[in-house]
Amino acid sequence: MEPLSDRTRLIAPATRRGGGRRPVNPSIERASTLLSDSVAEMRDGSLGPLYGIEGTASQTALRQALVDLERAEEAWLTPSGLSAVTLPLLALSRPGDEILTTDAVYGPVRRFLTRHMAARGVTTRFHPSGEPADSVAARIGERTRVMLIESPASLTFEMIDVPALVAAARARGVLTVIDNTWAAGLAFKPLMHGVDVSTQALTKYFGGHSDLMLGAATARDPAIRKAIADTVEDLGLCVSPDDAWLALRGLRTLPLRYAEQARSALRVADWLAGRPEVSRVLYPALARDPSYGLWTRDYTGAASLFGVVMRGGDAAAAHALLDGLRLFGLGYSWGGFESLITFETPQMAWRETAPVLEGPLLRLHIGLEDPADLIADLAAGLDGWPNA
Ligand SMILES: Cc1ncc(COP(=O)(O)O)c(C=O)c1O
Repeated sequence: MEPLSDRTRLIAPATRRGGGRRPVNPSIERASTLLSDSVAEMRDGSLGPLYGIEGTASQTALRQALVDLERAEEAWLTPSGLSAVTLPLLALSRPGDEILTTDAVYGPVRRFLTRHMAARGVTTRFHPSGEPADSVAARIGERTRVMLIESPASLTFEMIDVPALVAAARARGVLTVIDNTWAAGLAFKPLMHGVDVSTQALTKYFGGHSDLMLGAATARDPAIRKAIADTVEDLGLCVSPDDAWLALRGLRTLPLRYAEQARSALRVADWLAGRPEVSRVLYPALARDPSYGLWTRDYTGAASLFGVVMRGGDAAAAHALLDGLRLFGLGYSWGGFESLITFETPQMAWRETAPVLEGPLLRLHIGLEDPADLIADLAAGLDGWPNA
């Protein structure tokens, strides 16, 4: 019957035969201590977890679903998307090493690199966002140990040619880690393109309901898996069975929510791109976007998250626009059922090379509302824009 599509893969384990009479979903087993009937049984690690930190039924089922979805050999759960990215960086680098990543990397990861890692002798080199893969590869130095890829980049959404970058990294003995949150493990399969570690914030589309913080890392190579597993063990990283259960519940409908939200996002993005108040929409799924070619070549879907560069106007105009919207929540994170909008221009100051923007930078996340209603809300808001 193999290979199954992702829609089926994420559901089929729930109805697999052979488990006897049971609920469809695994139980939430809250445990620090797991009991055995004899000392011999206590010593037998093959009988399942001996201690709560190893995870119980819901964590195990979620890890297996991630292995299946990412075409991995092993998956680890972490308390947030941020810790999913920092875990492999901690596991794979040593003092004296250098990490190469995009100048547009997710802000808190940048802070981890420049604060925590730098204090421990691991330096970071940032490459301009939007630079082609061969120019990035040319920056690999003697000390470069890990390349952290984020595609599309946070806030400005430039994509990079991941297969080309990975080939160049492998040729130089550099390991690759990707933040695959935008693709939700669905639309892009990094491990199938040779990336060493794929990470994502399950907080976003896996959770899908804005009520969960969780992350995941997946890998294939035995040495890399050992380095990550050792680090998980050394740091005592674990997640609650309730949170794993919520993520498992979310993943059954993940492909449908992801596709439907992308359909709406494309409609809203396309409408915005035609408005005189908007200079550019930064969304690889739009045919006029510079990353459209890479997106159509490597991705089977898109997140419902994109940037909007306004034409003229200032921070006060952006604040007024956001304050006046009725259907968009003012909030960070994304991947939930609700539409959100944020003003992102101040974050550009973190970058070494700030992009030239024609006006304020906004970020929109499109939820499951009717896109016609979202467009009407935005239209009313744009009427007040200074150049309208
Ligand atoms: C691209 C990207 N990676 C990672 C994260 C971190 O996820 P979390 O909020 O679960 O720590 C975020 C959160 O916004 C993100 O946008």
